[in-house]
Amino acid sequence: MAVTINTLRERKQNNETFSVLTAYDATFAHMMSEAGVDAILIGDSLGMVLQGHDSTLPVTLEEICYHTRCVARGNQGALIMADMPFMTYGTTEAALDNAAALMRAGAHMVKLEGTDWMEDTIRALSERGVPVCAHLGLTPQFVNKFGGFKVQGRGDEQADAMVRHAQLLVEAGADIILLECVPAALAKRVTESVDAPVIGIGAGHETDGQVLVMHDMLGATTGRTPKFVKNFLAEAESIQGAFEAYVAAVRERRFPAEEHSFKS
Ligand code: KIV
Repeated sequence: MAVTINTLRERKQNNETFSVLTAYDATFAHMMSEAGVDAILIGDSLGMVLQGHDSTLPVTLEEICYHTRCVARGNQGALIMADMPFMTYGTTEAALDNAAALMRAGAHMVKLEGTDWMEDTIRALSERGVPVCAHLGLTPQFVNKFGGFKVQGRGDEQADAMVRHAQLLVEAGADIILLECVPAALAKRVTESVDAPVIGIGAGHETDGQVLVMHDMLGATTGRTPKFVKNFLAEAESIQGAFEAYVAAVRERRFPAEEHSFKS
C-alpha cells in the first residue's frame, strides 16, 4: 500500500512514528522504500552531499526535478517529498509554477523553508492541490542570515515564535511541519500544538517522524558529523540492513537518543 499524507496523519493520531530519508536516485529510493522507509525527501542537501557545495543555495529547480524523476522511478510506495530550492518560492506566483514542475516530475508534496511570511504562498499551493511541508528551525537556505548552521529556538521568545509559526502555517494549509536542529523540549511542544504530523532532524525523539540525510546515516561524510546523526551502517551488514535498522529504531523510538538531541 502506497504511503499518503493520510497514512502519516493516522500514524500521528495512533501515536505511531514514521521514518523519512533523503534519496537522490532510483536505486537508493528502491532500496529504502523496500526497507519500509515511509517517505523519501529529494532534499536540496544534494547540493552539499552530491555536488560538493558548502551550502544548499546553488541548487536549481531543474536539478531537483531531475533527481525527483530518478527517485520516482525507483520508489516502491513511499511518499515523495521534493525540496523547493532557494528563491524558487520568493513570490506566490513563482511558488505555484515551480511547485507544478516538481509535482509533474513525480513529487507528492513540496517542502519550503521559512516562517510566517509563507502563509499566503502555502494557502495558494494547498488550495490548488499541492501538499506542503513547512520547514522551520535551522532552515539551511537561511544560513547567511543565521551566520552559520546553528540550533534555533533557544530562549522563550524564539521558542514561542516557532510554536506560533507552526500553528499559523498548518492553519494556512501545511500538511507537515519539519523541525531541524531545535531543542527537544520545543520540538515536543510544537508536535503537541498542531494536528499535522511533525518530522524532526536534530529535534529529539518526541516528534511524529524522523528524517536523516542518507549519506549521513550511512557514515558517508567528508568531514565533521553533526551531533544528531547516527551511522546505521556501522552496526549493519549491508546498506539494506542499515535502512532496515533505521526504520526499526525510529519505529521503536530508540532513535534519536538523548546524545543526538539538543537542550534548550
Ligand atoms: O535538504 C534536506 O535534505 C533537508 C533535510 C536535512 C531535512 O532539508
